[in-house]
Amino acid sequence: MRKLDDKTLVVASHNAGKIREIRDLIGPLGFEAKSAADLNFVEPEETGTTFEENATIKALASARASGLPALSDDSGLAIEALDGAPGVYTANWAEREDGSRDFAMAMEKVEKALKEKGAMTPESRTARFVSVLCLAWPDGHVELFRGEVEGQVVWPPRGTSGFGYDPVFQPKGYDTTFGEMTAEEKHGWKPGDASALSHRARAFKLFAETCLGA
Ligand code: IMP
Repeated sequence: MRKLDDKTLVVASHNAGKIREIRDLIGPLGFEAKSAADLNFVEPEETGTTFEENATIKALASARASGLPALSDDSGLAIEALDGAPGVYTANWAEREDGSRDFAMAMEKVEKALKEKGAMTPESRTARFVSVLCLAWPDGHVELFRGEVEGQVVWPPRGTSGFGYDPVFQPKGYDTTFGEMTAEEKHGWKPGDASALSHRARAFKLFAETCLGA
C-alpha cells in the first residue's frame, strides 16, 4: 500500500454532493482539496461495468491532468429486488434527454420498478449504497477502497439534506433517511472513530487508515 505524503489532492468529481462530502471528510485531516470541476477538467466517460473500474477511470484522468494525487468516488444504490439495479447505472437513471439530472424523477423510477416487482413491504425493499474510492497518482499507481451500507428503500421520499437518492434510503437500525440526517450524522465518522455510517465514510475510513495512517 502506498502512503499519501502530499497535503494537496484533487477530488476527481464533478458531482457537487460528492465533492462536499469528500471535503467534509478530508478537511479535518489538514488537506487542501481542489475538485476536477474547479479545475475545469473534462469529465471522463465512465465506460466500466464495475464501481472499481469507473472509480479508477475518474481518478487516473484527474491525476494525469493535474500532476497531483487524485481521489475519486464511484458509487450507487444496489436494490436486491431489482437484482442489484440501478447499481453502477445509478446516475444514469436520473438523466434527462437534455443531459441534465433529475433525482426526483430517478426516485420515482425506483419506486415504480419496486411496485412492478410487488416489493411493498420493508423486508422486500432491502438495498445497499456502495462507494468505491480510488486514489491515483500521476505515475499510474492506484489504491482502491470499498464501503457499503445496508438499508431499505422507503416511499415517499423524506428529508431535504444530502443529495441524489438520500431521501429514499433508510440505513438499517435507523428510523430516519439519509435525507433527514445532518452531514455529520450521515458520515457517522471523524478521524480516529472506530466505525462510520455512510458507504462513502466507510470507504474513506479505510483510505484514511491505509494511506494517511489516520
Ligand atoms: P457516479 O458515481 O458518478 O456514477 O454516480 C453515482 C450516483 O449514485 C450519484 O448520481 C448519486 O445520485 C448516487 N449516490 C451515490 N452516493 C450517494 C449518496 O451518498 N447519497 C445519495 N445518492 C448517492
